[in-house]
Amino acid sequence: MPAHLILLAAGQGTRMQSDLPKILHEVGGLPLFVHALRSAAPLEPDTQVLVVGHGGEHVAKVAEDFGEDVAVAVQEEQLGTGHAVLTARDALSGKAGDAVVLYGDTPFIRGETLERMRAARNEGADIVVLGFEAADPGRYGRLVLDGDTLNAIVEWKDASNEQRAIRTCNSGIVMADATLLFDLLNDVTNDNAQGEYYLTDVPALARARGLVARAVICDEAETLGVNSRADLAAAEAAFQARMRAEALDAGVTLTAPDTVFFSHDTVIGRDALIEPNVVFGPGVTVETGARIRAFSHLEGCHVGRGAIVGPYARLRPGAELGNDVHIGNFVEIKNAGIGEGAKVNHLSYVGDASIGEKTNIGAGTITCNYDGVFKHRTTIGARAFIGSDTMLVAPVTVGDEAMTACGSVITQDVPAGALALARGKQENKPGFATRLMGRLRAAKAAQQTKQYKG
Ligand code: UD1
Ligand code: MG
Repeated sequence: MPAHLILLAAGQGTRMQSDLPKILHEVGGLPLFVHALRSAAPLEPDTQVLVVGHGGEHVAKVAEDFGEDVAVAVQEEQLGTGHAVLTARDALSGKAGDAVVLYGDTPFIRGETLERMRAARNEGADIVVLGFEAADPGRYGRLVLDGDTLNAIVEWKDASNEQRAIRTCNSGIVMADATLLFDLLNDVTNDNAQGEYYLTDVPALARARGLVARAVICDEAETLGVNSRADLAAAEAAFQARMRAEALDAGVTLTAPDTVFFSHDTVIGRDALIEPNVVFGPGVTVETGARIRAFSHLEGCHVGRGAIVGPYARLRPGAELGNDVHIGNFVEIKNAGIGEGAKVNHLSYVGDASIGEKTNIGAGTITCNYDGVFKHRTTIGARAFIGSDTMLVAPVTVGDEAMTACGSVITQDVPAGALALARGKQENKPGFATRLMGRLRAAKAAQQTKQYKG
Protein backbone atom coordinates (compact mmCIF):
# COMPACT_ATOMS: atom_id res chain seq x y z
CA MET A 1 0.00 0.00 0.00
CA PRO A 2 1.68 3.27 -1.07
CA ALA A 3 2.08 5.97 1.59
CA HIS A 4 1.79 9.71 1.07
CA LEU A 5 3.15 12.09 3.67
CA ILE A 6 1.34 15.28 4.61
CA LEU A 7 3.63 17.42 6.69
CA LEU A 8 1.84 20.23 8.54
CA ALA A 9 3.95 23.33 8.78
CA ALA A 10 1.72 26.34 8.22
CA GLY A 11 1.68 27.50 11.85
CA GLN A 12 3.25 30.90 12.51
CA GLY A 13 5.85 29.69 14.96
CA THR A 14 5.67 33.09 16.67
CA ARG A 15 7.26 31.81 19.87
CA MET A 16 10.53 31.25 18.01
CA GLN A 17 10.90 35.05 17.71
CA SER A 18 12.48 34.52 14.31
CA ASP A 19 12.45 35.85 10.76
CA LEU A 20 13.07 32.30 9.60
CA PRO A 21 10.09 29.93 9.28
CA LYS A 22 10.17 27.61 12.28
CA ILE A 23 10.62 24.42 10.28
CA LEU A 24 13.84 25.76 8.73
CA HIS A 25 15.56 25.95 12.09
CA GLU A 26 18.11 23.18 12.29
CA VAL A 27 18.94 20.35 14.62
CA GLY A 28 22.24 18.64 13.91
CA GLY A 29 22.57 20.83 10.82
CA LEU A 30 19.34 19.52 9.27
CA PRO A 31 16.11 21.57 9.11
CA LEU A 32 13.38 20.36 11.45
CA PHE A 33 11.03 19.45 8.62
CA VAL A 34 13.66 17.33 6.88
CA HIS A 35 14.09 15.36 10.11
CA ALA A 36 10.31 14.85 10.10
CA LEU A 37 10.32 13.72 6.44
CA ARG A 38 13.20 11.33 6.99
CA SER A 39 11.58 9.81 10.07
CA ALA A 40 9.01 8.39 7.67
CA ALA A 41 11.57 6.93 5.24
CA PRO A 42 10.81 3.32 6.30
CA LEU A 43 7.30 3.81 4.88
CA GLU A 44 8.93 4.51 1.49
CA PRO A 45 6.55 7.38 0.78
CA ASP A 46 5.38 7.86 -2.75
CA THR A 47 4.52 11.55 -2.30
CA GLN A 48 5.56 14.18 0.23
CA VAL A 49 3.31 17.20 0.60
CA LEU A 50 4.39 20.10 2.72
CA VAL A 51 1.57 22.34 3.96
CA VAL A 52 3.03 25.81 4.45
CA GLY A 53 1.62 29.22 5.27
CA HIS A 54 1.55 32.25 3.03
CA GLY A 55 5.07 33.02 1.77
CA GLY A 56 6.38 29.61 2.72
CA GLU A 57 6.77 28.34 -0.87
CA HIS A 58 10.54 28.79 -0.85
CA VAL A 59 10.77 25.95 1.65
CA ALA A 60 10.53 23.65 -1.39
CA LYS A 61 13.92 24.93 -2.54
CA VAL A 62 15.44 24.11 0.84
CA ALA A 63 13.92 20.62 0.64
CA GLU A 64 15.56 20.21 -2.79
CA ASP A 65 18.94 21.29 -1.38
CA PHE A 66 18.66 18.38 1.03
CA GLY A 67 17.68 15.97 -1.77
CA GLU A 68 14.02 15.84 -0.78
CA ASP A 69 11.29 15.91 -3.39
CA VAL A 70 8.27 17.71 -1.96
CA ALA A 71 5.07 19.20 -3.31
CA VAL A 72 4.05 22.39 -1.55
CA ALA A 73 0.45 23.19 -0.63
CA VAL A 74 -0.19 26.70 0.62
CA GLN A 75 -2.71 27.15 3.44
CA GLU A 76 -3.39 30.87 3.18
CA GLU A 77 -5.22 31.10 6.49
CA GLN A 78 -4.52 28.84 9.46
CA LEU A 79 -8.01 27.54 10.14
CA GLY A 80 -6.90 24.43 12.02
CA THR A 81 -5.11 21.11 11.57
CA GLY A 82 -8.08 19.52 9.77
CA HIS A 83 -8.21 22.38 7.29
CA ALA A 84 -4.44 22.11 6.84
CA VAL A 85 -4.70 18.44 5.85
CA LEU A 86 -7.48 19.25 3.37
CA THR A 87 -5.15 21.80 1.76
CA ALA A 88 -3.01 18.84 0.64
CA ARG A 89 -5.90 17.14 -1.15
CA ASP A 90 -5.18 18.49 -4.65
CA ALA A 91 -1.55 17.40 -4.43
CA LEU A 92 -2.74 13.85 -3.76
CA SER A 93 -5.65 13.74 -6.20
CA GLY A 94 -5.90 10.42 -7.99
CA LYS A 95 -3.36 8.78 -5.68
CA ALA A 96 -4.44 5.61 -3.99
CA GLY A 97 -2.94 4.61 -0.67
CA ASP A 98 -2.52 5.89 2.86
CA ALA A 99 -2.07 9.45 4.01
CA VAL A 100 0.34 9.88 6.92
CA VAL A 101 -0.03 13.21 8.70
CA LEU A 102 3.14 14.42 10.43
CA TYR A 103 4.11 17.77 11.97
CA GLY A 104 7.00 19.72 10.45
CA ASP A 105 8.21 20.79 13.90
CA THR A 106 8.32 17.29 15.40
CA PRO A 107 11.66 15.80 14.39
CA PHE A 108 12.08 12.64 16.47
CA ILE A 109 9.30 10.22 15.53
CA ARG A 110 10.97 6.86 14.98
CA GLY A 111 10.58 4.85 11.82
CA GLU A 112 9.67 1.78 13.89
CA THR A 113 6.81 3.69 15.47
CA LEU A 114 5.36 4.54 12.07
CA GLU A 115 5.80 0.90 11.06
CA ARG A 116 3.75 -0.11 14.12
CA MET A 117 1.04 2.28 12.92
CA ARG A 118 1.13 0.66 9.50
CA ALA A 119 0.88 -2.78 11.11
CA ALA A 120 -2.27 -1.59 12.92
CA ARG A 121 -3.68 -0.48 9.56
CA ASN A 122 -2.86 -3.87 8.07
CA GLU A 123 -4.64 -5.52 10.98
CA GLY A 124 -7.88 -3.76 10.05
CA ALA A 125 -7.86 -0.31 11.65
CA ASP A 126 -9.28 2.35 9.32
CA ILE A 127 -7.75 5.23 11.29
CA VAL A 128 -4.61 4.96 13.41
CA VAL A 129 -3.56 7.77 15.76
CA LEU A 130 -0.23 8.00 17.54
CA GLY A 131 -0.57 8.68 21.25
CA PHE A 132 1.76 8.85 24.25
CA GLU A 133 1.54 8.73 28.01
CA ALA A 134 2.39 12.28 29.03
CA ALA A 135 4.38 12.99 32.20
CA ASP A 136 2.59 16.34 32.22
CA PRO A 137 -0.47 16.15 29.94
CA GLY A 138 -0.87 19.95 30.01
CA ARG A 139 -2.95 21.18 27.08
CA TYR A 140 -2.50 18.24 24.74
CA GLY A 141 -5.54 16.68 23.14
CA ARG A 142 -6.71 13.61 25.13
CA LEU A 143 -7.33 10.16 23.62
CA VAL A 144 -10.67 8.74 24.73
CA LEU A 145 -10.00 5.02 24.56
CA ASP A 146 -12.17 2.03 25.16
CA GLY A 147 -9.82 -0.91 25.28
CA ASP A 148 -7.82 -0.52 22.11
CA THR A 149 -10.62 1.30 20.33
CA LEU A 150 -10.17 5.04 19.97
CA ASN A 151 -13.60 6.56 20.46
CA ALA A 152 -12.57 10.20 20.15
CA ILE A 153 -9.89 12.81 20.65
CA VAL A 154 -10.88 15.76 22.81
CA GLU A 155 -8.96 19.01 22.71
CA TRP A 156 -8.05 20.36 26.13
CA LYS A 157 -10.13 23.50 25.67
CA ASP A 158 -13.19 21.42 24.85
CA ALA A 159 -12.61 18.69 27.44
CA SER A 160 -14.58 17.97 30.60
CA ASN A 161 -12.70 17.70 33.91
CA GLU A 162 -13.04 13.95 33.68
CA GLN A 163 -11.50 13.97 30.18
CA ARG A 164 -8.72 16.31 31.30
CA ALA A 165 -7.72 13.67 33.86
CA ILE A 166 -6.77 11.31 30.98
CA ARG A 167 -2.99 11.05 30.60
CA THR A 168 -2.92 9.41 27.18
CA CYS A 169 -2.38 12.28 24.77
CA ASN A 170 -2.54 12.92 21.06
CA SER A 171 0.79 13.34 19.26
CA GLY A 172 -1.03 14.67 16.18
CA ILE A 173 0.19 11.89 13.89
CA VAL A 174 -2.53 10.13 11.96
CA MET A 175 -2.57 7.37 9.36
CA ALA A 176 -5.57 6.47 7.23
CA ASP A 177 -6.55 5.78 3.66
CA ALA A 178 -6.13 9.15 1.94
CA THR A 179 -9.53 9.19 0.24
CA LEU A 180 -11.29 8.22 3.48
CA LEU A 181 -9.38 10.85 5.47
CA PHE A 182 -10.33 13.66 3.09
CA ASP A 183 -13.90 12.42 3.02
CA LEU A 184 -14.13 12.43 6.84
CA LEU A 185 -12.50 15.88 6.96
CA ASN A 186 -15.28 17.22 4.74
CA ASP A 187 -17.64 16.55 7.65
CA VAL A 188 -15.50 18.40 10.20
CA THR A 189 -16.92 21.72 11.42
CA ASN A 190 -15.34 24.53 13.42
CA ASP A 191 -17.97 24.38 16.12
CA ASN A 192 -15.60 24.17 19.09
CA ALA A 193 -13.81 26.26 21.72
CA GLN A 194 -11.15 27.50 19.27
CA GLY A 195 -13.37 27.92 16.21
CA GLU A 196 -10.94 25.72 14.25
CA TYR A 197 -11.29 22.76 11.92
CA TYR A 198 -9.74 20.02 14.04
CA LEU A 199 -8.03 17.00 12.51
CA THR A 200 -8.74 15.42 15.87
CA ASP A 201 -12.48 15.17 15.08
CA VAL A 202 -11.76 12.45 12.53
CA PRO A 203 -11.68 9.37 14.83
CA ALA A 204 -15.13 10.10 16.30
CA LEU A 205 -16.54 10.71 12.81
CA ALA A 206 -15.07 7.40 11.68
CA ARG A 207 -16.58 5.60 14.67
CA ALA A 208 -19.97 7.10 13.84
CA ARG A 209 -19.70 5.45 10.42
CA GLY A 210 -18.94 2.12 12.06
CA LEU A 211 -15.25 2.24 11.10
CA VAL A 212 -12.36 1.06 13.27
CA ALA A 213 -10.13 3.67 14.96
CA ARG A 214 -7.11 2.64 17.04
CA ALA A 215 -4.26 4.29 18.91
CA VAL A 216 -0.62 3.22 18.82
CA ILE A 217 1.39 4.42 21.83
CA CYS A 218 4.98 5.67 21.59
CA ASP A 219 7.55 7.08 23.97
CA GLU A 220 6.88 10.70 24.88
CA ALA A 221 10.42 11.67 23.85
CA GLU A 222 9.55 10.94 20.22
CA THR A 223 6.77 13.49 20.23
CA LEU A 224 8.98 16.39 21.31
CA GLY A 225 7.87 19.40 19.27
CA VAL A 226 9.79 22.61 18.78
CA ASN A 227 7.90 25.81 19.58
CA SER A 228 10.56 28.03 21.13
CA ARG A 229 14.32 28.52 21.16
CA ALA A 230 14.40 26.62 24.45
CA ASP A 231 12.64 23.68 22.75
CA LEU A 232 15.14 23.91 19.89
CA ALA A 233 18.04 23.71 22.34
CA ALA A 234 16.39 20.75 24.07
CA ALA A 235 15.91 19.05 20.69
CA GLU A 236 19.57 19.63 19.82
CA ALA A 237 20.62 18.15 23.16
CA ALA A 238 18.44 15.08 22.60
CA PHE A 239 19.83 14.69 19.08
CA GLN A 240 23.44 14.99 20.24
CA ALA A 241 22.86 12.46 23.01
CA ARG A 242 21.55 9.99 20.43
CA MET A 243 24.46 10.57 18.02
CA ARG A 244 27.03 10.10 20.81
CA ALA A 245 25.39 6.88 21.93
CA GLU A 246 25.33 5.61 18.33
CA ALA A 247 29.02 6.47 17.84
CA LEU A 248 30.00 4.63 21.04
CA ASP A 249 27.90 1.63 20.00
CA ALA A 250 29.63 1.62 16.62
CA GLY A 251 33.07 1.28 18.23
CA VAL A 252 34.21 4.90 18.24
CA THR A 253 36.13 6.07 21.32
CA LEU A 254 34.87 9.41 22.65
CA THR A 255 37.05 10.49 25.55
CA ALA A 256 34.46 13.02 26.75
CA PRO A 257 31.24 12.28 24.81
CA ASP A 258 29.30 15.27 26.13
CA THR A 259 31.78 17.69 24.57
CA VAL A 260 31.66 16.26 21.04
CA PHE A 261 29.07 17.65 18.60
CA PHE A 262 27.83 15.79 15.55
CA SER A 263 25.87 16.64 12.43
CA HIS A 264 23.02 14.56 11.09
CA ASP A 265 25.31 12.94 8.51
CA THR A 266 28.58 12.48 10.42
CA VAL A 267 30.17 9.11 9.66
CA ILE A 268 32.96 7.85 11.91
CA GLY A 269 34.70 4.51 11.47
CA ARG A 270 35.34 1.89 14.09
CA ASP A 271 38.33 2.43 16.35
CA ALA A 272 38.56 6.11 15.52
CA LEU A 273 39.33 8.18 18.59
CA ILE A 274 37.71 11.56 19.17
CA GLU A 275 39.24 13.68 21.89
CA PRO A 276 37.28 16.28 23.87
CA ASN A 277 35.70 19.40 22.37
CA VAL A 278 35.51 18.39 18.74
CA VAL A 279 32.79 19.79 16.45
CA PHE A 280 31.63 17.97 13.32
CA GLY A 281 29.81 20.23 10.86
CA PRO A 282 27.86 18.66 7.98
CA GLY A 283 29.42 16.24 5.53
CA VAL A 284 32.26 14.68 7.52
CA THR A 285 33.59 11.15 7.14
CA VAL A 286 36.35 9.92 9.43
CA GLU A 287 37.80 6.53 8.62
CA THR A 288 38.76 3.79 10.97
CA GLY A 289 41.71 4.29 13.30
CA ALA A 290 41.92 8.04 12.73
CA ARG A 291 42.41 10.30 15.73
CA ILE A 292 40.76 13.71 15.98
CA ARG A 293 42.52 15.60 18.70
CA ALA A 294 40.98 18.14 21.05
CA PHE A 295 39.39 21.43 19.92
CA SER A 296 39.25 20.61 16.23
CA HIS A 297 36.48 21.78 13.90
CA LEU A 298 35.65 19.72 10.80
CA GLU A 299 33.09 20.19 8.02
CA GLY A 300 32.60 18.81 4.53
CA CYS A 301 35.77 16.75 4.70
CA HIS A 302 37.16 13.26 4.65
CA VAL A 303 39.81 11.95 7.03
CA GLY A 304 41.62 8.79 5.90
CA ARG A 305 42.56 5.76 7.95
CA GLY A 306 45.05 6.33 10.71
CA ALA A 307 45.27 10.07 10.12
CA ILE A 308 45.86 12.44 13.04
CA VAL A 309 44.11 15.81 13.09
CA GLY A 310 44.68 18.56 15.64
CA PRO A 311 44.69 19.59 18.40
CA TYR A 312 43.16 22.90 17.27
CA ALA A 313 42.87 22.03 13.58
CA ARG A 314 40.25 23.31 11.17
CA LEU A 315 39.18 21.19 8.21
CA ARG A 316 36.89 23.05 5.85
CA PRO A 317 34.79 21.82 2.91
CA GLY A 318 36.75 19.87 0.34
CA ALA A 319 39.57 18.83 2.66
CA GLU A 320 40.46 15.28 1.62
CA LEU A 321 43.06 13.71 3.87
CA GLY A 322 44.66 10.47 2.73
CA ASN A 323 45.62 7.66 5.06
CA ASP A 324 48.13 8.45 7.82
CA VAL A 325 48.16 12.17 7.12
CA HIS A 326 49.11 14.41 10.04
CA ILE A 327 47.45 17.79 10.42
CA GLY A 328 48.67 19.66 13.47
CA ASN A 329 47.78 22.63 15.61
CA PHE A 330 46.41 25.85 14.12
CA VAL A 331 46.34 24.42 10.62
CA GLU A 332 43.47 25.19 8.25
CA ILE A 333 42.81 23.02 5.20
CA LYS A 334 40.21 23.96 2.58
CA ASN A 335 39.39 22.32 -0.75
CA ALA A 336 42.67 20.47 -0.79
CA GLY A 337 43.78 16.89 -1.21
CA ILE A 338 46.57 15.83 1.15
CA GLY A 339 48.32 12.67 -0.07
CA GLU A 340 48.97 9.60 2.03
CA GLY A 341 51.46 10.14 4.84
CA ALA A 342 51.90 13.87 4.16
CA LYS A 343 52.33 16.23 7.12
CA VAL A 344 51.14 19.77 7.73
CA ASN A 345 51.92 20.07 11.38
CA HIS A 346 52.02 23.69 12.46
CA LEU A 347 50.30 27.02 11.82
CA SER A 348 49.56 26.69 8.10
CA TYR A 349 46.83 27.53 5.59
CA VAL A 350 46.44 25.11 2.71
CA GLY A 351 43.59 26.00 0.37
CA ASP A 352 42.75 25.05 -3.24
CA ALA A 353 45.74 22.76 -3.33
CA SER A 354 46.88 19.24 -3.86
CA ILE A 355 49.79 17.84 -1.94
CA GLY A 356 51.48 14.60 -2.89
CA GLU A 357 52.20 11.66 -0.64
CA LYS A 358 54.80 11.96 2.11
CA THR A 359 55.36 15.64 1.47
CA ASN A 360 56.22 17.76 4.49
CA ILE A 361 54.81 21.25 4.76
CA GLY A 362 56.84 23.39 7.15
CA ALA A 363 55.44 25.57 9.92
CA GLY A 364 53.70 28.74 8.86
CA THR A 365 53.34 27.81 5.18
CA ILE A 366 50.55 29.55 3.31
CA THR A 367 49.02 28.90 -0.09
CA CYS A 368 48.19 32.40 -1.32
CA ASN A 369 45.17 31.21 -3.27
CA TYR A 370 43.11 34.39 -3.62
CA ASP A 371 44.01 37.42 -5.70
CA GLY A 372 40.99 39.40 -4.53
CA VAL A 373 38.83 38.18 -7.40
CA PHE A 374 39.82 34.65 -8.43
CA LYS A 375 40.96 31.55 -6.57
CA HIS A 376 44.02 29.74 -7.89
CA ARG A 377 45.47 26.28 -7.25
CA THR A 378 48.73 25.19 -5.74
CA THR A 379 50.06 21.78 -6.75
CA ILE A 380 52.83 20.14 -4.79
CA GLY A 381 54.24 16.76 -5.76
CA ALA A 382 55.20 13.75 -3.68
CA ARG A 383 58.00 13.68 -1.07
CA ALA A 384 58.57 17.41 -1.42
CA PHE A 385 59.83 19.55 1.45
CA ILE A 386 58.30 22.98 1.86
CA GLY A 387 60.42 25.10 4.19
CA SER A 388 58.85 26.96 7.10
CA ASP A 389 57.09 30.20 6.27
CA THR A 390 56.91 29.56 2.54
CA MET A 391 54.34 31.68 0.70
CA LEU A 392 53.11 29.75 -2.34
CA VAL A 393 51.62 32.36 -4.67
CA ALA A 394 49.08 30.41 -6.72
CA PRO A 395 48.78 29.32 -9.42
CA VAL A 396 52.03 27.52 -8.82
CA THR A 397 53.42 24.00 -9.01
CA VAL A 398 56.19 22.42 -6.97
CA GLY A 399 57.50 19.14 -8.40
CA ASP A 400 58.18 15.81 -6.73
CA GLU A 401 61.04 15.79 -4.24
CA ALA A 402 61.58 19.52 -4.66
CA MET A 403 62.38 21.84 -1.74
CA THR A 404 61.66 25.44 -0.93
CA ALA A 405 63.88 27.40 1.42
CA CYS A 406 62.32 28.82 4.58
CA GLY A 407 60.78 32.23 4.19
CA SER A 408 60.54 31.94 0.41
CA VAL A 409 57.85 33.65 -1.61
CA ILE A 410 57.36 31.18 -4.45
CA THR A 411 55.91 32.83 -7.55
CA GLN A 412 57.28 30.49 -10.22
CA ASP A 413 56.97 26.74 -10.68
CA VAL A 414 59.67 24.66 -9.02
CA PRO A 415 60.88 21.69 -11.11
CA ALA A 416 61.05 18.21 -9.57
CA GLY A 417 64.14 17.73 -7.43
CA ALA A 418 65.05 21.47 -7.41
CA LEU A 419 65.59 23.77 -4.44
CA ALA A 420 63.83 27.12 -4.74
CA LEU A 421 65.33 30.00 -2.80
CA ALA A 422 63.26 33.15 -2.99
CA ARG A 423 64.15 35.51 -0.20
CA GLY A 424 66.55 38.41 0.47
CA LYS A 425 70.19 37.36 0.68
CA GLN A 426 71.72 37.64 4.16
CA GLU A 427 74.57 40.09 4.79
CA ASN A 428 76.47 40.19 8.15
CA LYS A 429 78.15 43.45 9.30
CA PRO A 430 80.72 42.57 11.97
CA GLY A 431 80.48 44.65 15.19
CA PHE A 432 77.66 46.76 13.83
CA ALA A 433 75.08 45.66 16.42
CA THR A 434 77.34 46.43 19.38
CA ARG A 435 78.12 49.91 18.04
CA LEU A 436 74.51 50.68 17.24
CA MET A 437 73.25 49.57 20.67
CA GLY A 438 75.96 51.65 22.36
CA ARG A 439 74.86 54.76 20.48
CA LEU A 440 71.19 54.20 21.24
CA ARG A 441 71.77 53.61 24.97
CA ALA A 442 73.94 56.75 25.20
CA ALA A 443 71.21 58.80 23.52
CA LYS A 444 68.61 57.50 25.98
CA ALA A 445 70.82 58.28 29.00
CA ALA A 446 71.39 61.86 27.73
CA GLN A 447 67.64 62.31 27.33
CA GLN A 448 66.94 61.15 30.90
CA THR A 449 69.61 63.48 32.37
CA LYS A 450 68.07 66.41 30.53
CA GLN A 451 64.57 65.58 31.83
CA TYR A 452 65.88 65.28 35.41
CA LYS A 453 67.60 68.65 35.31
CA GLY A 454 64.76 70.34 33.51
C1 UD1 B 1 -2.47 19.67 18.13
C2 UD1 B 1 -3.63 18.69 18.33
C3 UD1 B 1 -3.58 18.15 19.74
C4 UD1 B 1 -2.27 17.50 20.02
C5 UD1 B 1 -1.10 18.45 19.74
C6 UD1 B 1 0.20 17.72 19.78
C7 UD1 B 1 -5.45 19.45 16.89
C8 UD1 B 1 -6.73 20.17 16.82
N1 UD1 B 1 -4.87 19.39 18.08
O1 UD1 B 1 -2.72 20.76 18.99
O2 UD1 B 1 -4.62 17.20 19.94
O3 UD1 B 1 -2.20 17.03 21.36
O4 UD1 B 1 -1.24 19.03 18.41
O5 UD1 B 1 1.25 18.61 19.66
O6 UD1 B 1 -5.00 18.91 15.89
N2 UD1 B 1 -0.93 23.67 11.56
C9 UD1 B 1 -1.14 24.04 10.26
N3 UD1 B 1 -2.23 24.76 9.93
C10 UD1 B 1 -3.15 25.13 10.84
C11 UD1 B 1 -2.95 24.73 12.18
C12 UD1 B 1 -1.84 24.01 12.51
O7 UD1 B 1 -0.32 23.73 9.38
O8 UD1 B 1 -4.13 25.76 10.46
C13 UD1 B 1 0.26 22.88 11.91
C14 UD1 B 1 1.24 23.60 12.81
O9 UD1 B 1 2.24 24.27 12.05
C15 UD1 B 1 1.83 22.45 13.63
C16 UD1 B 1 0.70 21.43 13.68
O10 UD1 B 1 -0.17 21.74 12.63
O11 UD1 B 1 2.92 21.85 12.96
C17 UD1 B 1 -0.04 21.44 15.01
O12 UD1 B 1 -0.59 22.71 15.22
P1 UD1 B 1 -0.68 23.36 16.67
O13 UD1 B 1 -1.30 24.68 16.54
O14 UD1 B 1 0.62 23.26 17.35
O15 UD1 B 1 -1.72 22.37 17.36
P2 UD1 B 1 -1.95 22.18 18.92
O16 UD1 B 1 -2.91 23.19 19.37
O17 UD1 B 1 -0.67 22.05 19.62
MG1 MG C 1 1.36 22.46 19.21
